[in-house]
Amino acid sequence: THVVLDSCIRCKYTDCVDVCPVDCFREGPNFLVIDPEECIDCAVCIPECPANAILPEEDVPSDQLQFVQLNAELAKVWPSITKRKGSLPDADEWKDRKNKLPHLQR
Ligand code: F3S
Repeated sequence: THVVLDSCIRCKYTDCVDVCPVDCFREGPNFLVIDPEECIDCAVCIPECPANAILPEEDVPSDQLQFVQLNAELAKVWPSITKRKGSLPDADEWKDRKNKLPHLQR
């Protein structure tokens, strides 16, 4: 599967969802996740993200491994998003910040 990482939090550009052939993105208030049961590892979403927030599971850095479980967990409870809707208002300000997990809204 592919995994949405820390960089998405408080940005949520949503460019990724438009290209997904299997509609595997799920939307929370300030973060998206990928449903690991739907993702086919096509990788087309990776270059679409302005925050570089998406990686294949095998490339997830060791300090972000918790996001593998987090994507799986939140994908079960968040609704599907299939169309781009624009970023959060201050996305550009948050794009290059690190360790945004404390800001995650569920
Ligand atoms: Fe998030 Fe990037 Fe998609 S910021 S919503 S993973 S385009």
